[in-house]
Amino acid sequence: MKRLKSFDNSWEENIYSKGNQLNRYPYTDLISYVYRLYGEELKSGKVLRVLELGFGGGNNILFFAQEGCETYGIEGSSSAHAFAVQQLKEKNLKAELVTGDFIKLPYSDDFFDLVIDREAVYCNVPDAIREIIKEIHRVLKPVGRFITFMYSLEHGSRLSDNGKLIDTDTYIFDQGKFSGAGITHFFSKEEIQNDYLKDFEIEFMRHLRVDSLVTEQRNEYAEYHTCARKKSKKY
Ligand SMILES: C[S@@+](CC[C@H](N)C(=O)[O-])C[C@H]1O[C@@H](n2cnc3c(N)ncnc32)[C@H](O)[C@@H]1O
Repeated sequence: MKRLKSFDNSWEENIYSKGNQLNRYPYTDLISYVYRLYGEELKSGKVLRVLELGFGGGNNILFFAQEGCETYGIEGSSSAHAFAVQQLKEKNLKAELVTGDFIKLPYSDDFFDLVIDREAVYCNVPDAIREIIKEIHRVLKPVGRFITFMYSLEHGSRLSDNGKLIDTDTYIFDQGKFSGAGITHFFSKEEIQNDYLKDFEIEFMRHLRVDSLVTEQRNEYAEYHTCARKKSKKY
């Protein structure tokens, strides 16, 4: 049976309603992927229709709106949504933002050129992630792209043994980077390629691991960056 709810309200209660983690600037690797893939089109004035899932404080939304994209976003936290709207207003930019759970996307089929997940889908349990990615597939145009950033099994927090295991490779932490942020799923390369993105064609996939040389937690973070194209009969 389809889930109606997946959003973990810890983001609203413990983080955004307290004014924390409201990022102001877009994620640098996301900017470089977008320019690598769409730089020429953006320069020539093509309007891309883009959706960000879990846009938080709207940092990446501002970037897309500034680039002239038709920009949409869905976010579970009403405090984060309100902050993003304020940021857009101050910069005189436009985007169609809604508060909602991205387990069900309020958009029609074949609608977006690009869907972005900058570390938002990982905040859900595996069964829900499968449904979320089906929804992403549904709303993408036939040759549309999905760019996703997903924490990997090598992430220092997972290796730290501080989390309570609630599902396969899925934890709740009360210490460290993910403390208070609710559900945290860590991905393997195989599950991304063979399970979650099986209906997509992977264009590139990178694994990034950042090792701090001074803190106790030497492996600070590790994540997959994946760009995939919707496979469809029309493609
Ligand atoms: C780590 S933050 C990332 C925020 C932003 N994408 C960025 O790059 O800074 C994860 C975001 O996903 C949102 N989120 C997670 N699961 C969600 C769901 N099922 N529905 C809606 N929002 C969700 C959280 O509220 C949070 O804002």
